[in-house]
Amino acid sequence: MSQIDEKIRRRYNRAARFYDLLEKPMEIMVLKKWRMEVMKDLEGKVLEVGVGTGKNIEYYPEGIDITAIDFSEKMLERAKEKAKRLNKEVNLIQMDVQDMKFPDDAFDTVFATCVFCSVPDPIKGLKEIRRVCKPTGKIIMIEHVRSEKKVLGLIMDALNPLVVNTYGANINRRTIENIHKSGYTDVEVTNLTGDIVKKIVIHNEK
Ligand SMILES: C[S@@+](CC[C@H](N)C(=O)[O-])C[C@H]1O[C@@H](n2cnc3c(N)ncnc32)[C@H](O)[C@@H]1O
Repeated sequence: MSQIDEKIRRRYNRAARFYDLLEKPMEIMVLKKWRMEVMKDLEGKVLEVGVGTGKNIEYYPEGIDITAIDFSEKMLERAKEKAKRLNKEVNLIQMDVQDMKFPDDAFDTVFATCVFCSVPDPIKGLKEIRRVCKPTGKIIMIEHVRSEKKVLGLIMDALNPLVVNTYGANINRRTIENIHKSGYTDVEVTNLTGDIVKKIVIHNEK
């Protein structure tokens, strides 16, 4: 693991204790609705990357084969507690999305919510998802990205070092650009909040 990977992993280890509490207002206002929006599209053998404290677990559809990974062991501990409490069967593994131990074409659906703001090398992670997702498979993401509005974009650039150093997430990632740079061609993008929060559906043609 590189120095930057270690730094971000440690940020999330530190945040794990208060993460759910801190996100609670956003969770009630919008996140719950967006999570459910993703859940309805899950099919077949599913992989969640960057499961965090397991906030999606309560919305996982019944009877689905789900594996979920995160590189922060402290976030993952919370997810394990949540799965147990909710009596949900999930294969939770500590793993780096930039270097996954799964074989090629292992999953029908791969999904992530608010993850590619913090993956240290997003293109490496996105290419790994492309590899482990079947050619007929689907990748679904909810991600916040840098605004393309001039002033707002510049404010996000200015605040980014502070946010990334305290929390581990970047607020000025150009994730759609990164997705295209990772070789994906069939990408549907829907704006959820202004031009900042987006639902992204990728048909993994390869
Ligand atoms: C902002 S949190 C989102 C958590 C969860 N998806 C949610 O919706 O609440 C980002 C998560 O991505 C994880 N993450 C960041 N980079 C990662 C990587 N390279 N491999 C695996 N997980 C990673 C972090 O540890 C953290 O738990």
